[in-house]
Amino acid sequence: MSIDNPLSRAEAAGTAAEAGAGATARFRADKTSAAASSQERVAHLAGLAIKALNGIILDEDVTYDEYNALKSWLIRVGDDGEWPLFLDVWLEHSVEEVANKNRHGSKGTIEGPYYVPGSPAQGTPGTLPMRDDEPGTPLLFQGQVTSVDGAPLDGARIELWQADDLGFYSQFAPSLPEWNLRGTVIADGEGNFQVNTIQPAPYQIPTDGACGQLIASAGWHAWRPAHLHLKVSAPGHQLITTQLYFPGDPHNADDIASAVKPELMLDVQERGNGAGRVTTYNFRLDPES
Ligand code: DHB
Ligand code: FE
Repeated sequence: MSIDNPLSRAEAAGTAAEAGAGATARFRADKTSAAASSQERVAHLAGLAIKALNGIILDEDVTYDEYNALKSWLIRVGDDGEWPLFLDVWLEHSVEEVANKNRHGSKGTIEGPYYVPGSPAQGTPGTLPMRDDEPGTPLLFQGQVTSVDGAPLDGARIELWQADDLGFYSQFAPSLPEWNLRGTVIADGEGNFQVNTIQPAPYQIPTDGACGQLIASAGWHAWRPAHLHLKVSAPGHQLITTQLYFPGDPHNADDIASAVKPELMLDVQERGNGAGRVTTYNFRLDPES
């Protein structure tokens, strides 16, 4: 199957409202809300945000028509459940930059809206849960988890989640098994791991909802380059949330979510004899501070 086959894509996609509702429900279930800041901090940050928006209105002579278009669009973002999508595409990369600026180990990048905790765990070598006839090029992903000083980390955990060969995530698109292409691999005593998966397809954020409407109205594109999502952790070390990318993807240079970094580019090799591809990526974790 191919990503530009409109029928297979439409069948697998569901609607933006379904994906958005799923991402909104997921966020509510997993993340603590409100009360994360003092009154002073709220007043400071909310004050700055309101001032910045007022500045744009005054500097750009924003009209009532434009103001009302914004109002109806914001209402639609909520109706479509697309606040997680909007925030993770256009703002999360800056939050991640701030959060990880003092780390010395492997680079992080955005989590995005489609992480689900508690994926099935297995030892190494492992295989991500997938359908018997899972479409796509087989990919062996392997590496070693060490501390920043190079010491191998016993008990390292590699949580992996990714889109399938059509660019869809299980639990956010209909008709995929619950844990399809989501799994946790426990590395061996030396931090080494191997996991069999398939190469993910580039991902297009839903085009039929509010975010898609903004993208179309602005003449932007909706693509993220193909990527693997990871959370890597080990005892005594800081968990890193990151993504890895594939050389040659047309959207590595203009990711809509601004989440690509040169350090996150994989080196992918053919294994020969139709065995698919192999790639090695080593993670270096910062000790807990
Ligand atoms: C979005 C989707 C992703 O797969 C991702 O990694 C980041 C953002 C999104 O649709 O917002
Ligand atoms: Fe993603």
